[in-house]
Amino acid sequence: MSAYPSVRPRRLRNSPAMRRLVAQTRLHPAELILPLFVREGITEPKPIDSMPGVVQHTRDTLRKAAVEAAEAGLGGLMLFGVPAVQDAVGSEGTNPDGILQQAIRDVVGEVGDALVVMSDLCLDEYTDHGHCGVLAADGSVDNDATLARYAEMAVVQADAGVHLVGPSGMMDGQIGVIRRALDAAGHQETGILAYTAKYASAFYGPFREAVGSSLKGDRKTYQQDPANTRESLRELEQDVAEGADLVMVKPAMAYLDILRQVADASPVPVATYQVSGEYAMVEAAAARGWIDRERMIMETLTSLRRAGAEQILTYWAVEVARQLH
Ligand code: PBG
Repeated sequence: MSAYPSVRPRRLRNSPAMRRLVAQTRLHPAELILPLFVREGITEPKPIDSMPGVVQHTRDTLRKAAVEAAEAGLGGLMLFGVPAVQDAVGSEGTNPDGILQQAIRDVVGEVGDALVVMSDLCLDEYTDHGHCGVLAADGSVDNDATLARYAEMAVVQADAGVHLVGPSGMMDGQIGVIRRALDAAGHQETGILAYTAKYASAFYGPFREAVGSSLKGDRKTYQQDPANTRESLRELEQDVAEGADLVMVKPAMAYLDILRQVADASPVPVATYQVSGEYAMVEAAAARGWIDRERMIMETLTSLRRAGAEQILTYWAVEVARQLH
C-alpha cells in the first residue's frame, strides 16, 4: 500500500524559488504601455482626483514622464490630448498644431527610438458634447461623418510622427478608413492599434475627469453591451480584415473571458487596457488600508497576461516596470 496522497501538487509551491521556476506567466516591462494625458495651456501638472497619482501633464512634464517611462524599459506610451477649446466637430483633433499633435512631436523627438509612441484617435476629448463622433441633426452619433473626421485625425497624428494610432471610438469601418487615409498620405509605416472589443463601461468613469469630457448620457449606441461575447469576435474579424496591426480588449479585468477568446482567435497581437476605474478601485481600497496594494496590482496584471493579453496598458506601468527589474 503506497502512501496517500500519492499526488502532491504542493511540492511545486513549496518555496519561492520553486514557484519562480514553474511560473507559467511572467510580466516584462517591454509589454507595458503607459497612458499619459497632456493638457493645453497649463503651467503645472494637474492631479486627477479620481486617479490618485495620475496627472494631466504640461508639455514639459509630459516630456519628462516619457523619459522616465523609457528609462523604466516600457514598451510604449499612449498619449491623450486635452485641448483648451472644444466644439461640435472636435476641431482641435485635426489641428496640426493641436495639443496632441504637439505632444506627439515632443515625445517622439525625445524617446521615439526607445519605445513605441501611440496616440488616442477619438473625438471625445475634443467635442463639446463629449461623444466620440460628430452628431447628426437628430442628436445621434453619425457613423460615416465621424469616419471622415477620423481619417483626418489619423493623418495629422501620423504627420506628427506617431508610430501607432489608437482608434477608440467604435465606429463601424473605422480601421479601414484610417488605413486608407494613412496609405494615401504616404504613411504606410504608421500602424493601427485597434480598440476592437470596447464595451460601454462604468469603469471609464474617472477617465472623464482625466480628459475633461463633458459627456452627458452614455455611449451605448456605439460601444458594446457587456452582456455580449459574439460581437467581440465579429469586431475582431472585421478589424483584422480592415488592417489592424494590433487589437485590444477593453476594459480588462471584468472581460477576461473576452480576452481569452480574442487571444485564441487573433492572428495579430492582443492588447488590453486596464482602465481608469480599475486603477481607481485598487487605489481607493488601498488608501483605506483594506487591501495590499502592491500584491493586488501584480495579481491583476498577471491575470491579464494569463488570460491572453500580450500588451497591457496600465497607469501603473512605470511603477511595475521598476519592480520587475
Ligand atoms: C475614448 C477613450 C476612453 C478611454 C480611452 N479612450 C473613454 C470612453 O470610451 O468613454 C477610457 C480609458 C480609461 O478609462 O482609462 N477616447
